[in-house]
Amino acid sequence: MLQVIEMTVRCWAVCCVLAVLGTCVESEVFPSPETRESETSYWMEHGERELQEALSRPQYTNKAKNVILFLGDGMGVTVNTAGRIMKGQKEGKSGEEGYLVWDRFPNVALLKTYNLDRQVPDSAGTATAFLAGVKANYYTVGVNGNVKLNDCAASLKNKNRVDTVLKWAQDAGKATGVVTTTQITHATPAALYAKSPQRYWQCDTKIMAAGPEALRCKDIARQLVEDDPARNMKVIMGGGRQEMGAREDNSAEEKCVRNDGRNLVEEWKMDKEARGATNAYASTTGQLREIDPTDTDFIMGLFGDLHMPYEVDRDTSLNGTPSIEEMTKVALQRLKQEEKGFFLLVEGGRIDHGMHYTQPKRSLEELVAMERAVLATLNQVNLTETLVLVTADHSHVMTMNGYPIRGNNIFGTVINEDDVSDHMPYTTLMFTNGPGFNYTWNGAEVIRRNLSEVDTTHKDFEPLAAVPTYSGSETHGGEDVAVFAQGPMAHLFHRVHEQSYVAHVMAYAACIGPYSKNCQYHIEDPTNYYNHVKNQRGQHREPSGASGAMANFALVVFTLLLCF
Ligand SMILES: *[C@@H]1O[C@H](CO)[C@@H](O)[C@H](O)[C@H]1NC(C)=O
Ligand SMILES: *[C@@H]1O[C@H](CO)[C@@H](O)[C@H](O)[C@H]1NC(C)=O
Ligand SMILES: *[C@@H]1O[C@H](CO)[C@@H](O)[C@H](O)[C@H]1NC(C)=O
Ligand SMILES: [Zn+2]
Repeated sequence: MLQVIEMTVRCWAVCCVLAVLGTCVESEVFPSPETRESETSYWMEHGERELQEALSRPQYTNKAKNVILFLGDGMGVTVNTAGRIMKGQKEGKSGEEGYLVWDRFPNVALLKTYNLDRQVPDSAGTATAFLAGVKANYYTVGVNGNVKLNDCAASLKNKNRVDTVLKWAQDAGKATGVVTTTQITHATPAALYAKSPQRYWQCDTKIMAAGPEALRCKDIARQLVEDDPARNMKVIMGGGRQEMGAREDNSAEEKCVRNDGRNLVEEWKMDKEARGATNAYASTTGQLREIDPTDTDFIMGLFGDLHMPYEVDRDTSLNGTPSIEEMTKVALQRLKQEEKGFFLLVEGGRIDHGMHYTQPKRSLEELVAMERAVLATLNQVNLTETLVLVTADHSHVMTMNGYPIRGNNIFGTVINEDDVSDHMPYTTLMFTNGPGFNYTWNGAEVIRRNLSEVDTTHKDFEPLAAVPTYSGSETHGGEDVAVFAQGPMAHLFHRVHEQSYVAHVMAYAACIGPYSKNCQYHIEDPTNYYNHVKNQRGQHREPSGASGAMANFALVVFTLLLCF
């Protein structure tokens, strides 16, 4: 501890000397809002408050009428920490001491994110895991591990296709919806409603390009409009007009244009009219605000030919696009009309894209935009009957380098004379791979980019990376991600879980899908918690038939007693 302080002081001494010489990098430093934090009593009181909160932590064992899943795409633990600090610094505080809204949810666990065939996963296989409860292969959506990438034939076999929480919720009479900032046919939303051996088969041209074997497969945009349960979703909002055959901006890059000439937005409307249902479509904020969500059966909003714009680049006028918060509020207003409750997936999808471009500011601003949507949600729903989850599909290779001083601008630089041998500044946030790779030969040695006169806080700034990638191609990271949970059955998140467990908790909490029949047995026998440890040591024996049955019987009686 002392050593760190000493080192920080020395860093500052060096920095000041350099500053006099006019070469110091000045990162803005934000002050801590906690004036008493150097006192012992501050931390004693802080700890006690937190302990009291933990002791009075509610355990809701009632049924979840509603389930809302917020998915921060690529929102690994480092991204979460950096986002928390940025949030505080936007308010002029040092930031480390603060919390994101979900940081204080009463239950937190870690999830293993690997795909069946990859140590470090993609968003399609991971979304299949947390939405269907079944782990899958890289780049595949809505199918199990028997389906390899691009294997259309295998993906068409019924036994390989998996149902998701979308169908389970609809089967239970719940309303359903999806909100994303990416294309509505992108990996995460696609895994909710579609089945495909290739996440990028979003439009027909991609399937045609994949060869004759692929032609039997239906593109993801068509599945959204034609197939159950997708076409029953009451709310669909995001980007992706191009793959829907409804593009407005002909200058946008052609990512996935339709070859069949169909306009799937028109077909979506016709389907609703044929079902005698009211419907509304919006492609701007102004049009969205003209819709009355309490009096419209089906709402579709497509606010971009490709993805929706990043929050920092968004046109906030009526001709522009809505924030994730505004979309979420409209979705909730619509879904709350339903007596049997609802399931809603909200994806902050471009946290991931900002990371792939290694532009930390773009990414973290997406994170705090999603936080506003979570906050609005908590204010709009009854939390005793609504399970709210916030999680990520996977991490990224961004790190937080040591040892910037407390409150250092999270996008700023560090001078660390003690540890760094080239004596040049580095940014707190860096990537192990990315487009920012920049090492050159100066005639005597290999040197890295000198950041002394670079504005590292700009939204376009790309930090130095160890391994070069194409622009936008920084890779995902493979460590566990967090899941933050609040509401009925939230306490079932309690350790390191497989990511697929998320779907099981959602289904169990809401009494739907695979758990629609046996979800009333909420109480676990506490003595069984650590059986798996004993099992691993080879000491544990399963209870023999009779006593096992007795134990189960006792458990059922105990549960029933608690219920009445
Ligand atoms: C919230 O939900 C609980 C459980 O369903 C219910 O008892 C309570 O009345 C609800 N509160 C409000 C304000 O609707
Ligand atoms: C790479 O670093 C050199 C200095 O070492 C700098 O002149 C150059 O502009 C940098 N290139 C990029 C793309 O940032
Ligand atoms: C980095 O740039 C600063 C300012 O341009 C310069 O004073 C310093 O010597 C450079 N450092 C190295 C190692 O080139
Ligand atoms: Zn990604």
